[in-house]
Amino acid sequence: MFHWLEKNPFFFAVAVFLTIAFAGLVEILPGFAQSARPVVGVKPQTILQLAGKNIYLQENCNACHSQLIRPFKSETDRYGHYSLSGEFAYDRPFVWGSKRTGPDLMRVGNYRTSDWHEAHLKDPQGTVDGSIMPPYPWLFRKSADIDTAYAEALTVMKVFNTPYNVGDNPKVPASLSEAKAIALEEAKMVAGDMKDPQIKSMVDSGNIPEVVALIAYLNSRK
Ligand code: HEC
Repeated sequence: MFHWLEKNPFFFAVAVFLTIAFAGLVEILPGFAQSARPVVGVKPQTILQLAGKNIYLQENCNACHSQLIRPFKSETDRYGHYSLSGEFAYDRPFVWGSKRTGPDLMRVGNYRTSDWHEAHLKDPQGTVDGSIMPPYPWLFRKSADIDTAYAEALTVMKVFNTPYNVGDNPKVPASLSEAKAIALEEAKMVAGDMKDPQIKSMVDSGNIPEVVALIAYLNSRK
């Protein structure tokens, strides 16, 4: 039927272009639909959670964990509601991941607690029999980078109009010192649910360990 096309390089090139352009449209257009707008109730991440997300990326947790639940019964039974595009509206960059060596973490905040994460990140094998996840002892010693997280929040607020400071959404204050104070308050709440006395004393002395920021981020995955 299309033999004549193969003999006409010009029209062949046009046909290839149209085919690829159509495929591109099919991918791009749904993003403009009403259902792709931010889901009601989705909030931007707090500065502490952003710092935790940066640790998630830095430690490459996304190499083994996805954050994208597919609309299959086997997945929704295990992880909860399948992911909606509007849930990622303020996620820059998103961390969908492409491989599940470990389970999906999109809604892990619904069924794991701060002290569970604490024990698991320190010693996965001691927490889950036969786990092949590596331990992350340095997260308990290094301090989280709040400065970068603050700069990031400020940037997405200014450049992409991410709705910080709107209603009861997280606050991004005008000064770094104020942002650090807010992050510390939130860190104290997380550390209050943890067991390690050293973590509590670090936070009490105004220092936020990486593990606290990471757990704040994991708890926000709902
Ligand atoms: C080498 C692959 C690998 C890496 C890297 C990895 N994990 Fe895992 N993770 C696993 C496996 C396998 C499991 C399942 C066994 C277990 O619970 O320990 C798991 C389980 C988990 C769970 C429990 C989820 C549930 O539903 O029970 C959490 C939370 C988690 N990982 C967080 C992290 C975080 C945070 C990082 C980065 C600091 C990370 N993982 C890095 C492989 C990995």
